[in-house]
Amino acid sequence: MRILGIETSCDETSVALVEDGKRILGEATYSQIAVHQAFDGVVPEIASRQHLVHILPVLQKVISVEEMTSVDAVAVTQGPGLIGSLLVGLGVAKAISYSFGKPLIPVNHIEAHLYAPHLFADIPFPYIGLVASGGHTLLFLVRGFHNYEVLGSTIDDAVGEAFDKLAKVLGLGYPGGPLIDRLAQEGNPDSFPELGKRLSLLPDTERDRYNFSYSGLKTAFTYRVQHLQDKETKLPHICAAFQREAIDLLLRKSLNALRDNHLSTFVLSGGVSANSYLRSQVKAWEKEGIQTYMAPLAYCGDNAAMVAGRAYHDALAGKYGDLRTDAYSRLEYVRKGKRSS
Ligand code: KG4
Ligand code: ZN
Repeated sequence: MRILGIETSCDETSVALVEDGKRILGEATYSQIAVHQAFDGVVPEIASRQHLVHILPVLQKVISVEEMTSVDAVAVTQGPGLIGSLLVGLGVAKAISYSFGKPLIPVNHIEAHLYAPHLFADIPFPYIGLVASGGHTLLFLVRGFHNYEVLGSTIDDAVGEAFDKLAKVLGLGYPGGPLIDRLAQEGNPDSFPELGKRLSLLPDTERDRYNFSYSGLKTAFTYRVQHLQDKETKLPHICAAFQREAIDLLLRKSLNALRDNHLSTFVLSGGVSANSYLRSQVKAWEKEGIQTYMAPLAYCGDNAAMVAGRAYHDALAGKYGDLRTDAYSRLEYVRKGKRSS
C-alpha cells in the first residue's frame, strides 16, 4: 500500500511517499528554520504562510500529478500542532483526496513521532516509548499500534522547549537543542556545582514516578546566567550542566517505567531524540540487556515519512477521515484528554 504523507504541524513543510509503512519511495522537506531564526523562535503566522508558499513545490518534488494514480491514500498530520500550519497541510490533503478519489488518513503527530523508529526496524511489542520534542514530553507503555497508555508527561514545559528557552536567554539562537548539544560537548557538566543540584529530578513519588518538570530547571539556569561574569567563556559549561540535568530526568523516568513494567524494549523518538548525550546514554542500556530503538537523526524531528508510515497502520485498522475532518491544536489535544485518533 502506497501512502502519500503530508506534515505541516510546525516549521517543516514535508511530503513523503511510503510503501507498506516501511519503504520510503520519495521525500522532500523544506525547513523554515532560517526564517524563524530572526525571531529566536517559531512565529505561528509566518509558519502558516511559509507552508502555503512551499507545500506545492515540495509536493512536486515527490510526486507528479500523473503519478498520483499509483497512490492508495493520502495521510496528513491532524494535530496537535500550530493550528494555522496544520490547516495548510490538511487543506492540500483534502484537495488531493477529493480530486483523485483517494481515502484521507488524519494522523496524530505524537503517534507519528513514536512511529519514526518503526520505519527502520521491526520493533517487538510491548515496549516503553518516550516522545521528547519541542511541544511534548510523554512516556508510553505501548502494546500495539493502537493499544497504548500514557504513563506520564511533563507537568509544565516540554524538554525541547526548555532547551529552546535557555538558548534564547544565552543568545545562541533557534532552535536551541542542537546548539546547546554542540556547545555541551566542549563543556564540563560539573563546573557549576550549585546548578548540579539535580533540580529537574522530580521525586519518584507515586504521583510523579513517570512525570517530568522543566520550568524550575529552566528558571534556575536563566537566573544563574543573568548574574554570571565572563558568560562567553563559560557557555559550554552552562550548556553541559543544563543538558545533563534535563536529559538525566528523561533517562531516570524511562528506567522507572521499564523496570516497573518488567520490559526490556525501549523506543526513543521526537526532536530531542537527536541529542547526542541522550542517544549515547540510551545506547549504553544495551549492555544491561535493554533493546533500544531510535530513528536516524534526519527522522527525529518533524518529517512526512513518519506520518505516511504511521498512516499505513491506521489504514489497516480502518481509521480514515473524511472531507469534514478538522485539525486540533496542542491545547485542544490536552483538554480532550490526549485522544489517539
Ligand atoms: O519533534 P520536533 O521537531 O518538533 C515538535 O514536535 O516539537 O522537536 C523540536 C525540538 C526543539 O525543541 C529542538 O530544540 C529539539 O527538538 N532538538 C534537540 C536537539 N535537536 C532538536 N534538543 C536537544 N538536543 C538536540 N540535539
Ligand atoms: Zn514534532
